[in-house]
Order: sequence, then structure tokens, then C-alpha cells
Amino acid sequence: MARLNSPQELKRFQEELLSQRPSTTSFVSICAGTGCLAAGAKEVIGAFKEEMEKSGIAAKIQSKETGCPGFCERGPVVVIYPEEICYLQVAPQDVPEIVAETLLNKKVVERLLYVDPATKKRVQRESEIPFYKKQVRNLIGNNIRIDPRNIEDYIALGGYTALAKALFQMTPEEVLEEVKRSQLRGRGGGGFPTGRKWEESRNAPGEIKYVIVNADEGDPGAFMDRALLEGNPHSVLEGLIIGAYVVGAQQGFVYVRQEYPLAVQNITIAIRQAEEYGLLGENILGSGFHFRVKVHQGAGAFVSGESSALMTAIEGKVGEPRPKYIHTAIKGVWDRPSVLNNVETWANIPLIINKGASWFTQFGTDGSKGTKIFSLVGKINNTGLVEVPMGVTLREIIYEIGGGIPGGKEFKAVQTGGPSGGCLPAELLDLKVGFDELTQAGSMMGSGGMIVMDEDTCMVDVARYFLDFLSEESCGKCVPCREGIRQMLKLLTAITEGKAKEGDLQLLVDLAEVASDASLCALGRTAPNPFLSTLKYFSSEYEAHIKERRCPALSCKALVSYYIDPERCQACLRCLRSCPAQAILGAKNTIHVIDQEKCTRCGTCLEVCPPRFAAVRKVSGEPVPPPLPEEKRIIVREREGK
Ligand SMILES: Cc1cc2nc3c(=O)[nH]c(=O)nc-3n(C[C@H](O)[C@H](O)[C@H](O)COP(=O)(O)O)c2cc1C
Ligand code: FES
Repeated sequence: MARLNSPQELKRFQEELLSQRPSTTSFVSICAGTGCLAAGAKEVIGAFKEEMEKSGIAAKIQSKETGCPGFCERGPVVVIYPEEICYLQVAPQDVPEIVAETLLNKKVVERLLYVDPATKKRVQRESEIPFYKKQVRNLIGNNIRIDPRNIEDYIALGGYTALAKALFQMTPEEVLEEVKRSQLRGRGGGGFPTGRKWEESRNAPGEIKYVIVNADEGDPGAFMDRALLEGNPHSVLEGLIIGAYVVGAQQGFVYVRQEYPLAVQNITIAIRQAEEYGLLGENILGSGFHFRVKVHQGAGAFVSGESSALMTAIEGKVGEPRPKYIHTAIKGVWDRPSVLNNVETWANIPLIINKGASWFTQFGTDGSKGTKIFSLVGKINNTGLVEVPMGVTLREIIYEIGGGIPGGKEFKAVQTGGPSGGCLPAELLDLKVGFDELTQAGSMMGSGGMIVMDEDTCMVDVARYFLDFLSEESCGKCVPCREGIRQMLKLLTAITEGKAKEGDLQLLVDLAEVASDASLCALGRTAPNPFLSTLKYFSSEYEAHIKERRCPALSCKALVSYYIDPERCQACLRCLRSCPAQAILGAKNTIHVIDQEKCTRCGTCLEVCPPRFAAVRKVSGEPVPPPLPEEKRIIVREREGK
């Protein structure tokens, strides 16, 4: 392919690509995102290649290895176009049938379709699956149509036309105005207005400036940025080039954690291909604008996602935060003006330039415009990536898209905002999702992690878990964060173990205040959030742990006990044989008893006891009834007939 030397050449090339691929052409998209690969997509891809070759349709029907469309839990995902037939959990042995039935005979393989749990009906089209129906997938919608390693797929769908528009039809000031008008706020956590940040850098003195993609994504359970960078890397790159044009940068960086090998690979290929096509590098599209991008692989520390730490890492030093007396937009990498934006923020830019700020602002609330991608995980039926307009309620996300809580359990809380976010209770299910709304409720948007918890979750233990993570991830440079988090963790651990003292809760509150006020970076400043939000909404759980040595969710190991109800035990030996601690006494005709001294509270007995017997009881804060005397435990066999 020759270089594209003008916007006209880009347009002609795009038309040529479209004429080669009319919208009626059949093709098979197989998700090759990390989630589907882990579920066996590689073998499915191999099976499709082999089967299509064998049946002689390989020349007519293209198969594509694409990015993640979001429904990873049901992967490997295969979508057949133009009908948009979506097959889930496809195994290599399903492929001959798909080829014979769907590709050759246009018949649907019913058993591989999504079954709506409410109506029990099978759903054929991808867009009609309830998980997708309520979503507005401006950013991830094309992932399943694009091979991320083939720039032509992106160009065929209108890729790089926003760049051409920005470079040839707009001045940098006009692009900046459009971004400001869109009211786009950064998707990496803070929600800082993107246009304002760009303007600050643009107006900062100095010839050398940088633009940077933050793809560190250290939040446990989050994978929005990975899916975008893996699945549609050119959308991020195009946004970055436009940003460089506005700011006046000639060098950019993509900071991506090395634990994301596919994202590293796909963005590296995207950069090389964009250079070959004249969309990056010297004299982009013949405009006279030069811009280069380097990929910087991070070592995978959560704190390195913080802006000053990330910039320090790009300089080749240890990725620790530094004081930000002056914004990094003015004094960033090597003290030069540097614009850092999240992957998702950059990916929004081409859409805003192509479709306009007023198109963008139609989505969202007064304070939060556009859509937001969340990774919906935890105790939820449909886990995966969801992209929704800002302003939808938590209830809509959890029940209408996520399909509610599995196993008929009650919803208890949702944790938003990553490890230093907060937990919101059922009373707030109708809260609109937006930057300010979540902050006012004591949580935050963060970069889009959303962990759903059910009635079996102990909120004190949740706070302990996140403080544990943050204490591991604190770089230790400042005392309020290093020591504050460590002491908070110690106290929370004591509470979950029933060892807390009167006054510990107040001590936790005091420590939280100091860490929030005095830490060097936002890791320490926001670290108390998991504690403060759970205390605000679930204070009774703290009191039960401290005053009654009781865990109301029956979750904290040190505070629960198991015993076998002699009235229900059928002496079936199942728990006795499964107990890893050999803590269960009994025999074939002898009612079983748990030796409380030996019991490690692993819960295996409860898991294996057949539901029709339901003989194992789990309790907290109440004494375990004494076992029956030996002679009374001999089973009376006539009970079998009961
Ligand atoms: C401890 C810590 C970790 C962070 N990790 C990330 C991250 O992984 N990705 C990200 O985009 N922003 C992260 N941020 C926020 C960044 O500091 C910065 O605000 C963001 O990259 C700016 O981009 P935006 O304006 O597009 O949101 C983190 C902040 C803190 C305090
Ligand atoms: S990785 Fe395939 S659906 Fe997410």
C-alpha cells in the first residue's frame, strides 16, 4: 500500500475499500480478545479456517479475528454478518455445523444462540440480546467488526476521517473549541475537563510538548481500556494525533502495562501501519504536521497510573508520584507541557470531531456528557463490558443490562470507582451514574470498575480487602499514605477477626482524615473511601462486628461457626469424607458432629451437604449447640422413610 498523501487520497481509498466490501457481504467475526482467547477462541479460529477451506468457501467468505464486544463471560463469541447472528460459547466442535448450516445454508444453529432467562426465548441478532440492547456502544460497538491488526478495517468504517477533517478543515483552535463544547471529561478517574487540560498545555510556553495515553489500568477487575486498546487501537491513536495537533506536540507516548501483551502488540502494529499509510510520522496526510508515537511498557504498579508517577516512569525513573505544585499539563515529562488522557478519553475525540460536540452532548447529564464504559463484574448474571450513556441509573445497569443477581440472592451494594472508590447500597440503586452524582454519594466514577455484591458479602471485609490492595500498592514515599493505610488495614483486619476494641472505629475515622488531607497523591487521598463509604451506609455491620463479635453476612471466617443439625442429618458421610481438616466425627449410621477445635471454617461441609437434607448450619455471634451424647447419635433407620 502506498502512502496516503492528502485527505482526498484517504477518501478515495476508503471508497475503494467499501466497494470491495459491500454491506451485504458475508463475513464471520470471531472475538480474539483476551477473555475469549482464554476461553478457547484460538482453537475456534483454527477450526473455522480449516472448515471453511474444506468446504470451499474460504475465498468467498472472510473470517475476521476481532476485538472484544463486551460479553466475555459468554465467550468465545462468533458473529455472522450481514445477518448479525450471534453465537455464544462456541467450541471448535461446533464449527463444522456453523459452516454447514449457517454459512452454506443460511440456517441458524439454535442451540448456540443466547437464551433470555426471563422469557426463555432464543435471541438471534447480537443487538437484540438484552445485555446489548440497553447499551449505547459508540466506542466499543465496532470492536466486533474490526480486525485490530488491519488498519484497512478501521479506514473502511470511516477511520482517520476525523484526523483529516481536523488537519485540513479546522485550525487547532477550532478543534480545541469543539472539544471544549463537547464538555468531555477525562475517563481516567478525576473527570477533569479535557478541553481545559489541552488549552493549558497549548498555552504553556515551550516548543517541545507531549501527549500521552494512560493505559495503565491497575484497578482490580477493570478491563475497559484493555478492550479498547486491544480491539480498536486506531481509534485511540487517531484521538491522540488530533490532540497533538491542538497542543502542538510532536511526540506522543502510549503508557501501557506490560501485563497487557495483546494490547501492547495491537497498538504497536497500529502505530507501524499508521506510519506506513502516512497517517502518522512525517508530514501526516501531506499536511506538514509531524508527530511520532512510542509505546512505553509499564511495570504494572497501580500507583504508576497516577499522572506524575506515570510521567516519571516515562523519563526512565521509578514510577513514583511527585508533588504537583504546577499541573503536569504545564510541567510534565522532562518538565515539558504534557497532556495525559485516559484511553477512553482519547477514543472519544474522533467521534466528537466527526459528529460534532452537539451530537456528543445529547448523551448524558448536565455535568457528565457522552457514554461511559464500565466493567461489570461480581455477583451479577451478565458480567462483561458495558457502554452506557451517562445518566442511566445503577438499577438499569445492574438489572436490565447485567440481568440481576444470580441464585435469587438479594443485591447488597455496588462498588464503583476502583479500589479507592466507594460502596453504594440498595437505597441508591436509582442514582444516576455521573461524575458528580457518584462523588456526592461518597463513591466516584474512577475509570469504570463496577463490582456488584450480594447479601453474602460482608461490607467490613470489603473495606479491608481494598485497603489491603492499596497498602500493597502504596509506593511508600509519603508517611500519611504508607503508614495511614497500613494502620487502617490493621484495624479493619482486627474488626473482621472479632479482635477490635472500643474506640477503634473513631481511630479509623481519624486516620482516614489524615490520609485524605495529607497524602502526596490521590492514591493516599482517596484510600479511605472504601472504609468511609461502608461506614456511612453499613454502620450496623461495623457495630455488630465490634460489639457482638458477629458478622451479619456470615462471611468473616473468624466470626462464623458451623454445626450439624442432628434433626436433619442423615449420616450420609458426604461432609465427613469431604472435610479437609478431618473435623467431622460420625459413621454410616451415626449422626455427624463437627469438632469445633479442629474446624477451619472452610465451609466445605455446607457446600457438599445435599440441599434436601440441609443439615449444616452456619452461625455468627451465637453459641453452637452442644453435640448430642454418643448414644443418642446412633441413627434410627426408620427416619429414612421420613
Ligand atoms: C493511584 C492512581 C492510579 C491511577 N491510575 C490510572 C489509570 O490506570 N488510568 C488512567 O487513565 N488514569 C489513572 N489515574 C488518573 C490519572 O492520574 C490521570 O488523572 C488521568 O490519566 C488523566 O486522564 P483523563 O483526564 O483522561 O481522565 C490514576 C490516579 C491515581 C491517583
Ligand atoms: S474477549 Fe471476547 S467478548 Fe470480551
